[in-house]
Amino acid sequence: MTRTRLAELAPAELESLRDQLTARLDQLRGAGLNLDLTRGKPGPDQLDLSNGLDGILAGDFGASDGTDTRNYGGLRGAGLRGIPEARALGGEILDLEPEQVIAGGNSSLSLMYLVIETALRDGLWGPDSSWSDEATRSGTPVRMLAPVPGYDRHFTICEQVGIEMVNVPMTDSGPDIQAIELLLTEDPMIKGIWCVPKYSNPTGCIYAERTVEAIAGLPNRAGRNFLVVWDNAYAVHDFEFPRTPLANILGFAQVQGTAAHIAMFASTSKITFAGAGLGFLGGSETLLLVIEERLRAMTVGHDKVNQLRHARFLRGRLETHMQAHANLIRGKFDAVQDHLDQELSGLDIACWTRPRGGYFVSIDTRPGLARRIIGLAAEVGVALTPAGATFPYGRDPEDRNIRIAPTFPDTLEIEAAMEVFTLCVRLAAAEQIIDERRSAP
Ligand SMILES: Cc1ncc(COP(=O)(O)O)c(C=O)c1O
Repeated sequence: MTRTRLAELAPAELESLRDQLTARLDQLRGAGLNLDLTRGKPGPDQLDLSNGLDGILAGDFGASDGTDTRNYGGLRGAGLRGIPEARALGGEILDLEPEQVIAGGNSSLSLMYLVIETALRDGLWGPDSSWSDEATRSGTPVRMLAPVPGYDRHFTICEQVGIEMVNVPMTDSGPDIQAIELLLTEDPMIKGIWCVPKYSNPTGCIYAERTVEAIAGLPNRAGRNFLVVWDNAYAVHDFEFPRTPLANILGFAQVQGTAAHIAMFASTSKITFAGAGLGFLGGSETLLLVIEERLRAMTVGHDKVNQLRHARFLRGRLETHMQAHANLIRGKFDAVQDHLDQELSGLDIACWTRPRGGYFVSIDTRPGLARRIIGLAAEVGVALTPAGATFPYGRDPEDRNIRIAPTFPDTLEIEAAMEVFTLCVRLAAAEQIIDERRSAP
C-alpha cells in the first residue's frame, strides 16, 4: 500500500486528519482502557510452562557430585560456584564449559552489580587495578560506554556506584565500533562497555560476528583495566528454530589475549520463573576467582535446591522449552508489527525494529515526540515505558525512542493498546508538522 508521507499532505488535509485523530482519541478516552505495554515480564501462560519445577526433586536432593543441596557448602566448590549440573546449564546458555561458569541466585543483575563494584573498589586484575584509585589519582571520573537505546537497569547500576556514562549509537549489527574506538583513544578513563549481544534490549538486534570480534579486542585499545559486560539475557530466546547463533566472544578474546576482561551473564528469569530462577556469571578463571572471593564474604552459598530443580527440569530440553515460549509470544510480536505496518508505514513519521526473539520492540518517532506520544497514550489509559528510559540519566537527547514490551498482556489487549499507540504517533506527528509550518518563515 503506498501512502502519502504526512509532511506532504496539503495543510487542509493535515488539519482534517488531526481533527479526525483527536475525535477518535476523545472517543477512546471514555472507553475506560487500562492497558500496559511497559513490562518486560513473561505472561502467566509462559510461567505455567515451568510449573513442573514444583516437586520435581521428589525428595531426591543429591547433586551429581554427591553434594546434599539442602545444606550449606558442597563438594569441590559447589557451595559458591554452584552445583555441577547448574554450571553446565549456565554453560549451555552462554556457550561455555561448565568450569567457566558460576551459578548463582535468582538474579544476573545482582552479579553484574557485584562485578562492577569489585572492579571499581578493589579491581578485577590485581591490587593495582581499582578503577576508583585511578580516578582519584587522575582526578577524572570513571566512565562506561552505554550503547543507546539500552537497558535502564544497567544505567541505574552506574548511577548508583558513581560511574558516568557515555552514549554510543546502536546499529543493526551492534554498537557503532568506529565511534567506540574514537572515544577510547580520547579518554583512558572509559573503563567498560554494557552489551546485550543477542536480541538486545530494546532494539532486538543480534551483534554481528565482526562486531563481537571487535568488542573482544577493545581491552587492547582502551586505557588500562577495561571490562566488557556481556549481558546475554536473551541468549536462547529465539522465535524461530534452529536458533540464530551468536559469535562466541570468549573465543575471540582468548585469541586476542583479553579473556580476563570479559564478564558474561545470563539467567533463567525469562526461561522459567522470572522471580525465582538462576543467574549465571561466565568468564576466565581470573574473573571467577575474584568474584568467588567476594561471594565468600556475602553468602555461605546460593540456593542449591533451586539450582538442582532447574538443572533437572531443563536437562536435554532447553530448546523444546524455548520453542514453547516462542509459540506463546510470537503472535503477540506479530500483532505489534501488524499494527505498526498497517497504521504507520509509508507516513515517514516513525521507524521500528522487527526482532525475531527477545522481549522488546524499539520505535523511533520524529524527534521531539516521544514524551508527547507517551503522555497522550496515558491520557486514554495505555501505559508505555517512560520517555527517556532507554537512555542514561533518563535523557533521550532527541526525545524519540519508545520501548514496547508485548509479552505480558494478552493479544486482545495488545491489539487495543497498539491501536491507541499508533493513533497517538500519528496525532503527535500531525500536530508537530502543523506547528512547524506555522512557525516557518
Ligand atoms: C538485558 C537484561 N539483563 C538483565 C535482566 C534482568 O535479569 P535478572 O532477572 O537475571 O536479574 C533483564 C530483564 O529484563 C534484561 O532485559
